[in-house]
Amino acid sequence: MTETAHPRRVFSGIQPSGNLTLGNYLGALRRFVEMQEAGVPALYCVVDMHAITVWQEPAKLRAAIRELTAAFLACGLDPARSIIFNQSQVPAHAELGWILSCVARIGWLNRMTQFKDKAGKDREAASVGLYSYPTLMAADILAYHATEVPVGEDQKQHVELTRDIAAKFNHDYGVDYFPLPAPIIEGVATRVMSLRDGTRKMSKSDPSDMSRINLTDDADAIAQKIRKARTDPDPLPETYAALAERAEARNLVNIYAALSGLDRDAVVTEFAGRPFSDFKPALADLAVSHLAPVTARIQELLADPAEIDAVLGDGAERAAEIAEPILARTRDIVGFVSSR
Ligand code: TYM
Repeated sequence: MTETAHPRRVFSGIQPSGNLTLGNYLGALRRFVEMQEAGVPALYCVVDMHAITVWQEPAKLRAAIRELTAAFLACGLDPARSIIFNQSQVPAHAELGWILSCVARIGWLNRMTQFKDKAGKDREAASVGLYSYPTLMAADILAYHATEVPVGEDQKQHVELTRDIAAKFNHDYGVDYFPLPAPIIEGVATRVMSLRDGTRKMSKSDPSDMSRINLTDDADAIAQKIRKARTDPDPLPETYAALAERAEARNLVNIYAALSGLDRDAVVTEFAGRPFSDFKPALADLAVSHLAPVTARIQELLADPAEIDAVLGDGAERAAEIAEPILARTRDIVGFVSSR
């Protein structure tokens, strides 16, 4: 079967659950802005339906949706150029999610490492939504025939599953309809690690707030968290390669490189032979100088929730205009009779 050329379109999403972290900022948000600046048509989604796969207090969820939207805008996403919306407002996601859950195989979902991590030991008590969530994520992407999905490394497996689902749909129905989207995982901060444990990723759901930098942290909190970040007793080496076995040290160097735009060897060279007690204040200054304007802008935007809701409303309309015809054709391919 020949591959139809699909026009480039970017789709990505972030869950409005808890605090946004430096990991979300470096691994996703900042990359979204770069792609916008490169002029690729894009949709950026506040995935509220994904958030409720674990319990969310309604009032807190409402606030988190607006806060994440404000963060999108504060980081530089421009609603005139990128479509910014919340998932629940475009029914195509849920509907295509169902169809794709009938395409995906249980064996495929059983391999998803994120479910294993999030469900923990008591899998029987996890919601069905938490288990089937990757099929909804596939629908998010495929409802727009998106071709590129910028994400951090932890989402790679889900984007690969989306490709498998798209290929199986095309194969089973004998069509060449859904593009196989590519995960775009670039830069030096595709997996920012916890500040307390270099083997775990920095996460908004980590019980220890000291493990992460939140986009809402003030300068003092950021400085304190970096000062207390776990490292080893050795000074910085001469080369980045020498950090291979030093996960925590490497993570701090990666963060410095991502924030400064320097390459990793240049960062190590600048501090070679010096202790982490010299490096950490420099890193804290750099983080504060990047995040303080973003945090301040988020607070300003949150003062006008009606404006945020208007951005989301307009984005949802534009998103639905793209998704609806794609869904209509999907129903037809599947064999549903269109009766009205
Ligand atoms: P979520 O909300 O957990 O994370 C949002 C984005 O941030 C990235 N990220 C990180 N990058 C680097 N280092 C880290 N420590 C780190 N932590 C998080 C994630 O990789 C992600 O890109 N299932 C997705 C949301 C989603 C989605 C989609 C993404 C739903 N539908 C469709 C792309 C396309 C999630 O839970 O991301």
